[in-house]
Amino acid sequence: MSAEKILLLEGIHADAKQLLETAGFAVELLPKSLPEPELIDALGGVVAVGLRSKTHLTENVLRAANDLRVAGCFCIGTNQVDLDVAHDLGKPVFNSPFSNTRSVAELVMAEIVFLARRIGDRNNEMHHGEWHKTADRSFEVRGKTLGIVGYGHIGRQVGVLAEAFGLNVIFHDIIGQLPMGNNRSVDSLDEVLSQADFVTLHVPATPETENMIGAEQIGRMKDGGYLLNLSRGNVVVIEDLVGALRSGHLSGAALDVYPEEPSKSDSSFDAELGTLPNVILTPHIGGSTQEAQVAIAHEVSRSLIAYLEHGRTLGAVNFPQTDLHARPGTRRVQHIHQNRAGVLGDVHRIVASHGANILGQVLETDATLGYLLMDLDVADVAPILADLGGLSTTLDARLLS
Ligand code: NAI
Repeated sequence: MSAEKILLLEGIHADAKQLLETAGFAVELLPKSLPEPELIDALGGVVAVGLRSKTHLTENVLRAANDLRVAGCFCIGTNQVDLDVAHDLGKPVFNSPFSNTRSVAELVMAEIVFLARRIGDRNNEMHHGEWHKTADRSFEVRGKTLGIVGYGHIGRQVGVLAEAFGLNVIFHDIIGQLPMGNNRSVDSLDEVLSQADFVTLHVPATPETENMIGAEQIGRMKDGGYLLNLSRGNVVVIEDLVGALRSGHLSGAALDVYPEEPSKSDSSFDAELGTLPNVILTPHIGGSTQEAQVAIAHEVSRSLIAYLEHGRTLGAVNFPQTDLHARPGTRRVQHIHQNRAGVLGDVHRIVASHGANILGQVLETDATLGYLLMDLDVADVAPILADLGGLSTTLDARLLS
């Protein structure tokens, strides 16, 4: 039997190709994304597609891609995929939400020190031939207080690294989080704002976090404080931040994300903030490191392999999540179906009618979809699959391993 085909787009790290080929798949790696008609053609006979942010798996593409069983977003975001349609068609989508956590945390630490020492300005001056040797408004970070807003994966990593620099760390999160090391939870956002010398934001984009740091919140920050935002662009009201920097209430800021970001990597960017002293601006590269790319390649490839070979859906963003431990000597059947009353009974009747015994089974459902894995003790499952395929509720029924 010839190897199943996988298409990787957008120059995904070569480790992904290697891992998938080692697992026995035939992998084509293209350097760019493809527009819709070409993508539809390219997906013929392809069981899994790997993409980043520029490839759009639209409803048209997903409906046309009959052979496609699973998609892997080799990145964090999944907006580029019509997740609902993929779900309804029985195609899980995986991503890699935490592979670049450490990369962001390291940049935050560097920027805290750079802000305290006004390194952005000194660096600019040197690039323009100016030698400005001064200790004016330059500080150590040791003994200062860092306030973390959003104590999730990145926030916690920052908290751990910051203590090694001698910072006192306080944090606020809307859910109870176990403090790392000597990090200390405070009761409100206001407490973080009023007590911290440096405030760093690590919240997700939600209705509550949109514009959560405006004039009022910045006004509660310490005189001479610093604000860092490497989370999402609409968390900070930029005009209000500019006002606080111009008035001197804040001593500096570091931004990696913006309300409007250019879509192409060589576009120009017009930032009023760039005219202000001690403001570090980076083009949304907080998580962009080679290590993160490798980690993403490994994590998503493993998810694709585990799904295609064993049916594991843990980590899928649009699908019932489950796993079933392997039972040597059995045949694993995957059954994806509409979640209606009586489906499991129908499946069991079919299995029993072929004299097969179910040695292991797991069913996970959401509002409309059912996902069933069964390990059977028969050598030939083809007649069972044929009957399962005949059920009106079946989206897919196949032998996995
Ligand atoms: P996470 O989901 O692990 O943590 C977010 C934390 O924020 C959670 O603990 C949550 O309870 C908390 N939170 C939610 N709403 C809150 C509120 N209103 N007030 C206080 N806390 C609140 O997310 P993770 O992985 O730590 O990412 C954090 C942010 O960083 C996300 O917005 C993500 O998109 C962004 N990010 C930016 C990157 C970059 O390149 N600059 C790279 C990776 C992530």
